[in-house]
Amino acid sequence: MSREFTKVGVIGLGTMGAGIVEVFARNGIDVVAVDANDEAVERGRSFLAKSTGRALDRGKIDQAAHDALHGHVTYATEFTALADCQLVVEAVPEHLDLKKEIFAELDTIVAPDAILATNTSSLPVTEIAASTSTPMRVVGMHFFNPAPVLQFVEVIRTVITADDVFEDVKALAERLGKKPVIVGDKAGFIANALLFGYLNHAVSMFESRYATREDIDAAMKLGCGYPMGPLALLDLIGLDTAYEILDTMYKQGRDRLHAPSPIIKQMVSAGLKGRKTGRGFYTYA
Ligand code: CAA
Repeated sequence: MSREFTKVGVIGLGTMGAGIVEVFARNGIDVVAVDANDEAVERGRSFLAKSTGRALDRGKIDQAAHDALHGHVTYATEFTALADCQLVVEAVPEHLDLKKEIFAELDTIVAPDAILATNTSSLPVTEIAASTSTPMRVVGMHFFNPAPVLQFVEVIRTVITADDVFEDVKALAERLGKKPVIVGDKAGFIANALLFGYLNHAVSMFESRYATREDIDAAMKLGCGYPMGPLALLDLIGLDTAYEILDTMYKQGRDRLHAPSPIIKQMVSAGLKGRKTGRGFYTYA
């Protein structure tokens, strides 16, 4: 019998985590939203409020739906709050050791038939699964930014993921209005494997002063019909996240395309991480 999913957890309330919370809550699922401390929880709460406020202003939801959405979310700083969740999605920064630690702890807290999912975009799901005593219930559930808007979800099946686990996650993604695809556990899965070489190439073009940021972005937006140019997209993704993804893909594949352009790391060190810090390739109000 397939799982119902009436209550789920999300760990990590950054750009992706807050977006994932919104997706579940909008679909009437209770969400326990967890981050490490009160400050991080508050930041997540304000990401969510900003996004749902915009959806309200744009007429995507009415006031009642807006309020109901927020009514489905509770916030916590302890993993014990996740004990009765049927699924927990982890969306913390892309550090393998951190994710392994989290999964090892979750394994001892949630019910034995609950599913543990990672939103990692490039780290090995198999290794994360191996940090638990029940790797068959660990799966990748990779959303795209902005999660409330983009309709694609990659469900990552490792060699040990149980059939019912990825089938239930796939059915859940459909219930959330997404188009799920099942992919194997290889860095970048489908979308990032295709996307990040292109983004990195755009950065090296900018870094070598071959063209201005505006012209690079205009080429892809106006010339190719992409919704946004590559440098603006990197600002949306976050340069810290982009660096981690490129670095992981480079280490796994050793192809020059994914060797992170040096300026990405420099910008991250200088705090220019994109929209979330108010400045990246562009400056935001
Ligand atoms: N809920 C529901 N709808 C929302 C919303 C929300 N919280 N926020 C925005 N929307 C809707 C808007 O109402 C709007 O809808 P209409 O077009 O019907 O009016 C639509 O979403 C677009 O929003 P905006 O008008 O505010 O912004 P935009 O038109 O400039 O589009 C964008 C912004 C959606 C980000 C678009 O530029 C886009 O799709 N860009 C590409 C993003 C992309 O490639 N993401 C993938 C990154 S890679 C990744 O995420 C993987 C990884 O692992 C890093």
